[in-house]
Amino acid sequence: MSVKVVVGAQWGDEGKGKYVDILAQNSDYIVRFSGGNNAGHTIVVDGVKFALHLIPSGILHTDKTCMIGNGVVVDPSVLLKEISTLKDRGITTDHLLISDRAHVIMPYHILLDKLQEDFRGTASIGTTKRGIGPCYADKIERSGLRMCDLLHKDILASKVQENLRLKNRIIQKIYGASPLNPDEIIEEYWDYANSLKPIIQDTNFMIYQALDSGKKILFEGAQATFLDLDFGTYPYVTSSNPISGGVCTGGGVPPTHVKEIIGVLKAYSTRVGSGPFPTEQDNEIGDSIRTLGHEYGTTTGRPRRCGWLDMVMINFACKVNGLTSLAINHMDTLGKIPKIKLCVAYNMNGIVTNRFPASFQTLSQVTPIYEEFDGWDLEASVDSFDKLPPSAQKYLERVETLCGVPVKYIGIGKERHHTILR
Ligand code: GDP
Ligand code: IMO
Ligand code: MG
Repeated sequence: MSVKVVVGAQWGDEGKGKYVDILAQNSDYIVRFSGGNNAGHTIVVDGVKFALHLIPSGILHTDKTCMIGNGVVVDPSVLLKEISTLKDRGITTDHLLISDRAHVIMPYHILLDKLQEDFRGTASIGTTKRGIGPCYADKIERSGLRMCDLLHKDILASKVQENLRLKNRIIQKIYGASPLNPDEIIEEYWDYANSLKPIIQDTNFMIYQALDSGKKILFEGAQATFLDLDFGTYPYVTSSNPISGGVCTGGGVPPTHVKEIIGVLKAYSTRVGSGPFPTEQDNEIGDSIRTLGHEYGTTTGRPRRCGWLDMVMINFACKVNGLTSLAINHMDTLGKIPKIKLCVAYNMNGIVTNRFPASFQTLSQVTPIYEEFDGWDLEASVDSFDKLPPSAQKYLERVETLCGVPVKYIGIGKERHHTILR
């Protein structure tokens, strides 16, 4: 029995996809457990790039089973497009399944996400406008459509009609926008259902069978700890629980089965969208990191905000997720900055602390306390920790000491093989 989990330790885009692709080689099942197509996970193999949004990053390994778990919210049009794009590139998706319990993103979710964001004005969250929040809200509010509902036209039709009775009122009367047509949506989604029918299955049951027969399951996190609805920088978060605990609800696996939890982070920090970011470098340093690390969103193409690595955050991520190891990416990128800073604590109203506050207003007011490190020159051929430049080793060892979790994987480039296993 082996259950491994890969989660993001910062604000997303840490390089989770790269590790899922690597670890998938030694897994039987690869399961996404939260989020939707707000995610963008990049894999680069021999110079060929794949950007995945809903399909698990194990998909290139055709001898494995990939699952979109019950905790994911699925936009069927995006999923079908992703499947056909992969097929056009010669990648089969015959080993892909979707949970019949996964919730479905409907056109009114996407419309309401946009309308709500516009309404918030300067207080907008900076969502990906993919309908994620409104879809999860309906799940919690108990009016959502699930994959199993799509398979029966009468259930699909009655749920769409019932939901639109209220949604259209909100769309028209609150936001002054045009109402949506239920019949068009029913026909559109019935078409999707027919295309997806063979792969909509009871994946939870399959996971229990896999656990009973000692198979290896790898859970792929999307988003990250500080976008988590409960533990992130609320309200500048996503609408799900991307932390390791989300595996239990979003994959159906009991906590007692989870053995290894890998937290992925960058050697610096990035964030897309609004919200506090204590170590942000909204200056030439941030610009350099963005250029050197190609820090532009995989999903929306937005420039990512860049700053120094924040160990107050990483410490909290270690605790909340129960991380058993760290995977640190972009050591190649950070090394190119001659003088590097690492945030080791916050000064919060004159008090030095390493506790991450609940309130985003409090977080916005902290002053980071830094230690300084020299940059380094890193050859792409380096294949062991001992061969890293001494200043890079010093940086990684300091990170380990500050959070007490071992650095097991070190990313020195985009490619699958640009990874040092320690
Ligand atoms: P995810 O959402 O966590 O899967 O991460 P993304 O794919 O959105 O963003 C990570 C970006 O960093 C991608 O463009 C990766 O190809 C790239 N990347 C991952 N690891 C490294 C690394 O060690 N060095 C460099 N230079 N790029 C990396
Ligand atoms: P991956 O899996 C980075 C951010 C959005 C926004 C906030 C809420 O690639 O790491 P949402 O559309 O989820 O309601 O937006 O969360 N966000 C991400 N940022 N990487 C992601 O996913 C993200 N998914 C959501 O930018 O600030
Ligand atoms: Mg991403």
